[in-house]
Amino acid sequence: VIFDSSQEASLLVAQEIANLIQRKNELNEPCVLGLATGSSPIKVYEELVRMHKEEGLSFANVVTFNLDEYYPMDKNNIQSYFHFMHEHLFNHVNIPASNINIPDGKVSAEELQQYCIDYEMKIKSYGGLDFQLLGIGRTGHIGFNEPGSHVNSGTRSITLDHLTRIDAASSFLGIDNVPRKAITMGIGTVRHAKRIVLLGWGISKAGIIQETIEGQISSRVPATYLQEHSNTTFVLDTEASSEL
Ligand code: GLP
Repeated sequence: VIFDSSQEASLLVAQEIANLIQRKNELNEPCVLGLATGSSPIKVYEELVRMHKEEGLSFANVVTFNLDEYYPMDKNNIQSYFHFMHEHLFNHVNIPASNINIPDGKVSAEELQQYCIDYEMKIKSYGGLDFQLLGIGRTGHIGFNEPGSHVNSGTRSITLDHLTRIDAASSFLGIDNVPRKAITMGIGTVRHAKRIVLLGWGISKAGIIQETIEGQISSRVPATYLQEHSNTTFVLDTEASSEL
């Protein structure tokens, strides 16, 4: 779906999420959301906060799982995804702290593998993700599933691609400060979501959006695996869709 502006598009995506939250609230069931960081979802979160404050949208039954976190990373660090999510969403809505799940960038190397298995199991214990919000990196990564990621991969640690580290350099005041690793949900984890919405804004995403939607399905561009998901929508602005 192509919109003239990311602002207009973000309002509609936020409305879809709000409708899902309300439906689950009426059923008294948890609403299990997979959430993304980066600049792409910021306006969606802004609108959800507005709906909470002005329209009484309640997050009391919302359970969230974030896609990824840098590794190693202290949650108190302003570059952490923990910080990002609290700044843009969690600090402004009534979600119980115990409903928030973000990979822990401080887990020890010895515990890391089991930690990832447990994260995956926790998602499954809720019956999987009702909705997964995604951005896309210029390598074609979703979460931090870099090229080479297996279609059935689960939550695990991953080595970041050089291009991903270049793109993150400005927020870390130089590439040398960008962590080399991350914890990420897998392609398999994401593909089990009942509904997926991927956001793509701006000319810098046009090339990778074209490959993702029109290219051959391959681990070379992990986001192409979304082509096989029956309930995925790519929500784009005119610039990001300009190479389609
Ligand atoms: C990071 C995140 C991804 C995100 C991507 C794009 O790599 N791990 O989840 O989609 O950045 O970020 P942006 O939305 O800022 O372009």
